[in-house]
Amino acid sequence: MTPNSLHPDSLAVHAGREDLAELGVHALPLDLSSTNPLPDIDVGGLSYEVLATGGHPFEGGSNVYARLWNPTVARFEQALARLEHAEEAVAFSSGMAAVTAVLLALSHEQGKRHVVAVRPLYGGTDHLLASGLLGVEATYCTPDAVAAAVRPDTALVILESPANPSLELVDIRAVAAAAGDVPVLVDNTFATPVLQHPLDLGAAISLHSATKYLGGHGDVVGGVIACDASTAAALRRTRAITGAIMHPLAAYLLHRGLTTLPVRMRAQQEGARAVATWLTTRPEVARVHFPEFAECDPQGLIGTQQSGPGAMIAIELAGGFDAASELTAAVELFTHAVSLGSVDSLIQHPAALTHRPVQSEAKPSDALVRLSIGLENPDDLIADLEQAFARSRVLEHSLAEGV
Ligand SMILES: Cc1ncc(COP(=O)(O)O)c(C=O)c1O
Repeated sequence: MTPNSLHPDSLAVHAGREDLAELGVHALPLDLSSTNPLPDIDVGGLSYEVLATGGHPFEGGSNVYARLWNPTVARFEQALARLEHAEEAVAFSSGMAAVTAVLLALSHEQGKRHVVAVRPLYGGTDHLLASGLLGVEATYCTPDAVAAAVRPDTALVILESPANPSLELVDIRAVAAAAGDVPVLVDNTFATPVLQHPLDLGAAISLHSATKYLGGHGDVVGGVIACDASTAAALRRTRAITGAIMHPLAAYLLHRGLTTLPVRMRAQQEGARAVATWLTTRPEVARVHFPEFAECDPQGLIGTQQSGPGAMIAIELAGGFDAASELTAAVELFTHAVSLGSVDSLIQHPAALTHRPVQSEAKPSDALVRLSIGLENPDDLIADLEQAFARSRVLEHSLAEGV
């Protein structure tokens, strides 16, 4: 049975494990070596040269040093590449290290320093682009303005779909067409390869904060990029130079996390559907952003580009910032914390936290709260929000009455 003939659920369980029986082991091997024995100076030197310039290890060679190559990381990369329908994948110490490596590698390779960025984006990505730290100049635009924003020195078009934090969907095929020869990077963190395959839609690069759904248990920080072999080589070269490789223990946990990714995504999505639908009935909530709702998907991308809405919800509270502050303080089952995609539900206020460094013209509304729905029974999550709304209202009354 070829791995590519497997159903995605089976692939998630088996990808990157093809040689385990031959090795006589059942669980993923974890290699924590920081350095590796060298057969002799010549082979060692050649191995160094190959790995430091983005190549793969060769028969009889050495992995040399863990900043250049680690077999546990490589296994996770192979598995993720399969799930993303990509030739290769390259793993980094965080999602932001992955974004940084793409910007450095592409601008360096092509000698081009301009990036077109479709807003909204995760606050860290938006901030990195706006900061000019990497010598990259960004033009921010809406999806329909990409063609006009592309210049002869544009190295990359970058977008998120669904976007963090307000879950806008971007038509990836349309942006790829508008970008022409310029590679398009899709941040696929919110959709995951369970729901969306950016490379099949014309994107050149699919990026993840692996910290989120890929890990799924809130105990790993990592980033990973799926792309073609030549881009992967450029990224490994940059990764070796800048020292941004993923730690092998993180790769082990992420690879293990992939096995349950499809099941988690579907179950969390079901929970999110129930919570989002209930939120539409609440007077405290002025607007619910959930990709499956018709008003959030005017282009009909759910069911075509992305197979389901995912498990993130954003709500705009009728009471604005004060209500958001009260709600996030009053929840008990939800954890008030940044990040997302874990088995437990999280709630946070993007304007104050994840999107704090974003320039004021692109900052999310002060009334917006983002919810990441986990694997709890949705009835319990709804009960928690209900008691939190009730307590907030009590507080409002108390304040109004000067108690
Ligand atoms: C959509 C998205 N991309 C990238 C990142 C950055 O990833 P990390 O926090 O792993 O560096 C995040 C983090 O929240 C994110 O939400």
